Amino acid sequence: MPAHPAGPRHEDVIDPHGVPARPGDPAVMSDLDPAIWPAGARRLPDGEMEIAGSRVTAIAAEALTPVVVLDERQVRRAARDYAAAYAATGAQTRVYYAGKAFLATAVARWLDAEGVGIDVCSAGELETAVRAGVPGGQLLFHGNNKSEAEIARALEVGVGRFVVDSFAEIARIAMLADEAGVVADCLVRVTVGVEAHTHEFIATAHEDQKFGLALADGVAAEAVRRVAALPSLRLRGLHSHIGSQIFDPAGFEVATRRLVGFAADLAAEGIAVEEVNLGGGMGIAYTAADDPLDVADMADALVEIVRRECDQAGLVLPTLCVEPGRAIIGPAGVTLYTVGTIKSVDLGHGVTRTFVSVDGGMSDNIRTALYDADYTVTLANRTSGAEPMLSRVVGKHCESGDIVVRDCWLPADLAPGDLLAVAATGAYCRSMASNYNQVPRPAVMAVADGHLTTVLRRETLDDLLALDPGV
Ligand code: LLP
Repeated sequence: MPAHPAGPRHEDVIDPHGVPARPGDPAVMSDLDPAIWPAGARRLPDGEMEIAGSRVTAIAAEALTPVVVLDERQVRRAARDYAAAYAATGAQTRVYYAGKAFLATAVARWLDAEGVGIDVCSAGELETAVRAGVPGGQLLFHGNNKSEAEIARALEVGVGRFVVDSFAEIARIAMLADEAGVVADCLVRVTVGVEAHTHEFIATAHEDQKFGLALADGVAAEAVRRVAALPSLRLRGLHSHIGSQIFDPAGFEVATRRLVGFAADLAAEGIAVEEVNLGGGMGIAYTAADDPLDVADMADALVEIVRRECDQAGLVLPTLCVEPGRAIIGPAGVTLYTVGTIKSVDLGHGVTRTFVSVDGGMSDNIRTALYDADYTVTLANRTSGAEPMLSRVVGKHCESGDIVVRDCWLPADLAPGDLLAVAATGAYCRSMASNYNQVPRPAVMAVADGHLTTVLRRETLDDLLALDPGV
């Protein structure tokens, strides 16, 4: 349920997800559940949290808060695990990282080194990957409205795959590739009539969205025929992306069956599909209520479906590709905030809610306001034996919907200057950050073996004001 656009629904004293149970033992508030926090996160004997060998107070002192901290080894391991799980199926497979989750040259280099390609969907993402030194052939270019300039640049750097999304785009890429004297490798983005969100999916026969070309009404088949017929385009295969933060494999299974069925129809027309890309959307644990799919189980299940369907249809097994973004970078990220104003509000019926204001908010994490996302938060610079207090972590922006963590339990002795850590903020937080209220966007720091490096430096007021010729 989306939050009210201009503020909280005043009647929603009771959270739609339900307030988490009050911890019986205050010590529980200091726990770092390994299913939610990065592998490198732990409590030191003095109670302070460290991430990959760096104390949170040291990170905050160097980078200022808010700051997004990435456990570099965890990002690399997640990429490696994905690639290994798919390779272990014995099929031809390829993993791309969806750069929209978060992209900077450092991240692009880590992933390239781990043998994972990168999915980009704008000139900015493309340029980031290119300037990181990622070979064009390792890139896959998405987008429902690629400009001529973007296509021309993508052709210039030799992107490995264009994922084509409309008839107009097919003509545009064909023309520009022709002019450049190259042949562009294409996947056709197919909407297969499956929409998946978290624990649910719906399979429909129709599509009502801006992405892709629908299978149901024959538009996808026509797009494939056009790509196959144009001399400056080479049809490599089909693409489908069914949604995000998915825990139920059934949606992927239905999508896979439909794609392979489509490939069989195309084979009957003499059109070969060498590659099937199932997109991203694999869910991660933001809270203890989330139960992510096992990467290897999912790889096995998807390859098994493709094998079975291809055997039945007499098709050669295509290369199977996936494009996880959140699952690779999300769990590796932690945002550190400094606590400022603390204010308690009487909700009636003997219930008090404490609003804990931090020095960031919806400008560095819009997901709570936009998607009603849930996050896990803990006091990071120390542990406390104080009683749990029902809290809402809010930002510093001039908007009452500026909430970071809707309902949580924090120690009652929380004080200005304390550090809070919010888990699983590696994906879609910094990449969706804004300068609302002229607030500079936070730094992103990588930590590994106690070393801290800057992935993106913190914006300054001068950075912001540099855009204003009147200054
Ligand atoms: N491939 C395609 C074509 C996509 O559109 C997306 C995400 C992905 C891969 C990666 O999905 P992931 O594995 O990260 O779920 N801003 C939202 C998510 C929007 C994702 C859009 N497309 C959020 O914060 O949850």
